[in-house]
Amino acid sequence: MQTLDPRLRGDDISSWKSVVRSASLTALLLLAAPTAAHAADSLDNRIGEALFRRMWVAAPTATQAADGLGPLYNARSCATCHPRGAGGRPPDPAVKDDQGVGYAIKLNADPVYGRQIQSNAIPGQLVEGRPRVTYREKTVRFPDGETVRLRHPTPVIEDLGYGPLAEATVMSARVPPRVHGMGLLDRIPADAIEAEAARQAASGGPAAGRVNYVTVDGKRQVGRFGWKAMHPTLDHQDAEAFSLDIGMSTPAFPEPWGDCTPAQTACRNAPHGDSKQFEGLEIPSTVIGLIDGYLRDLPPDGSLEAAKDKAGTALFADTGCAACHRPSWRTGEDAEHPSLSNRDIFPHSDMLLHDLGPGLGDRLPMGEANGSDWRTTPLWGLNRLAAKDGQLSLLHDGRARSVAEAILWHGGEAEAAKDRFKSLPGKDRKRLVRYVLGL
Ligand code: HEC
Ligand code: HEC
Repeated sequence: MQTLDPRLRGDDISSWKSVVRSASLTALLLLAAPTAAHAADSLDNRIGEALFRRMWVAAPTATQAADGLGPLYNARSCATCHPRGAGGRPPDPAVKDDQGVGYAIKLNADPVYGRQIQSNAIPGQLVEGRPRVTYREKTVRFPDGETVRLRHPTPVIEDLGYGPLAEATVMSARVPPRVHGMGLLDRIPADAIEAEAARQAASGGPAAGRVNYVTVDGKRQVGRFGWKAMHPTLDHQDAEAFSLDIGMSTPAFPEPWGDCTPAQTACRNAPHGDSKQFEGLEIPSTVIGLIDGYLRDLPPDGSLEAAKDKAGTALFADTGCAACHRPSWRTGEDAEHPSLSNRDIFPHSDMLLHDLGPGLGDRLPMGEANGSDWRTTPLWGLNRLAAKDGQLSLLHDGRARSVAEAILWHGGEAEAAKDRFKSLPGKDRKRLVRYVLGL
């Protein structure tokens, strides 16, 4: 393993271009070595990681290479919201000015605010508002007397900078999901996902998952990423993050002002970082490719093997969880990424949309996903989260602080599974939760 040029580390990179240039130089130097391909790969990944952690800055700058942040944005780097690839959390209403981690409020295209509230702005620009949440708590009691407190969230935007939201505007709060194992999920064959939807439809059970078909680049594709599976590829997901979260242009979202609407004239007219050297954009395809590569190779944080707890596996299936949280898949052939090819993986998700009922619904459709449709969340990696500090932020808006809370929010197609969970003897409930936390 070679030592990385100190200039390439994390936020110290002076410009992505020097990074890319020295990457290809290193790749050339390494061609003579027997492990060249592997070493070059791993160097690319480290550059991808550095770009994932890169703190972008406002235009204009002398180098042009790392600028173009905003004008309105949520965070300056991917890693701010996905620290070491982990998920985020909502603000804690009990802590003054707490913003949570990566917490964002999506909108259904408000005429002034656009598709997301940007909580930051470069100097001279007006922030859109501060996303917060308030909770109403209620108690659920199991037949054996044990209780769980559920908190019902209402997203709130404090200090709206550009007047009130339009009457028809719908808000949906989201926390960042964990981003480990994306490369393997990406390699589940699209036709296998379609076959799973057909199998569920034919089974006549309550779980009737649907593919979220989304049209990107004029092609109708199987959606996979995001809480509503609205992105067919990592590339598209990452490009949208640059646009909505960081305010930078990419081939897929070429507007340098990100999510600013025509009503936000100061933002539209601010200097931007598009540059002829970089495909006329702030973030050229090379940079997206390097970040994708880094994410693609981030191994799942959880188990790469079938669960060893046989009784737990059976309980998970008998309670009806496995109907949507499909334990395993086999990845397809991928000549470009042999390490991701033909592997049995255990994400515990069918990659399909399910209607989980009004309790989780947000009235914000995305692609073919309706307000109460969500993609079955892969459960691998929960072990690490749980080990870290015990406090979890589960579900799309982070409302659930424990696995039991997350299950109790399941409704709609998952109502029967939830009811079975509620009626389990206490020791089986604990066993099931332990099983999920071990994935
Ligand atoms: C402001 C915080 C924020 C920033 C900055 C951010 N993200 Fe995210 N990310 C999110 C949220 C929130 C979601 C979930 C969005 C949704 O599905 O509604 C998400 C989803 C994702 C997913 C999908 C994961 C899955 O399980 O399907 C990937 C991949 C991702 N982000 C990568 C990136 C990359 C790469 C960057 C930098 C270019 C980035 N993000 C920047 C908040 C952020
Ligand atoms: C009908 C399909 C379906 C069934 C059945 C189902 N789930 Fe889910 N599960 C989902 C969907 C969809 C989500 C995402 C919901 C959201 O984020 O709002 C989810 C989310 C979760 C989460 C939160 C994960 C995270 O990281 O945020 C956990 C934990 C979970 N399910 C466990 C279970 C368990 C345990 C069972 C069985 C008692 C079960 N689920 C049954 C579809 C299902």
